[in-house]
Amino acid sequence: MTETPSRILVPAERIQARIRELGAAIDKDYPNGVLLVAILKGACFFLADLARAITIPVRIDFIGISSYGKGKTSSGEVKLTKDLDATIDGLDVLVVEDIVDSGITLNYLVSVLGQRKPRSLRIVALLDKPDRRLRPVDVAYVGFQIPDEFVVGYGLDYAELYRNLADICVLELSPGPVLG
Ligand code: IMP
Ligand code: MG
Repeated sequence: MTETPSRILVPAERIQARIRELGAAIDKDYPNGVLLVAILKGACFFLADLARAITIPVRIDFIGISSYGKGKTSSGEVKLTKDLDATIDGLDVLVVEDIVDSGITLNYLVSVLGQRKPRSLRIVALLDKPDRRLRPVDVAYVGFQIPDEFVVGYGLDYAELYRNLADICVLELSPGPVLG
């Protein structure tokens, strides 16, 4: 059996339409501008489109966190693999994440960044799997709530593959090639 992206869950056009709505909401809520902090690597595609849907002054920074191994289940361990380039003291910070699953990653990140005294700290996540939550996370802006299925594409990976798909697809087990 091999795992392949077999069903489109959110097509590219719906992703882009929803991002335009999120951008408009962020414009309204942050008239003085915002610092977008994207979590590497999955959120990069979302960040690039979201930043262009926002018209208020935007700055961007990146943070690296890992809580997953190569597979589909969380190791439960979170570690910072790359810190921000600059301080966030006194800034309005919006963390940009691809998907909220158990909540372990964002729960950890909010506590780390919260100690650095930002003026405000909120989260925008493209996808949310609420059924999977183990730790509480307050997500201010959600693109789409999705069922408990493993998805790839638009930045999301399985073993580092499929990030470049334009649509968000469900990864399913399918029979592998017949050998012999
Ligand atoms: P959490 O800490 O369990 O909330 O996990 C969040 C991270 O797990 C995300 O940033 C993704 O990297 C990864 N993740 C969770 N669900 C999926 C999925 O369905 N597809 C791909 N990656 C996922
Ligand atoms: Mg991620």
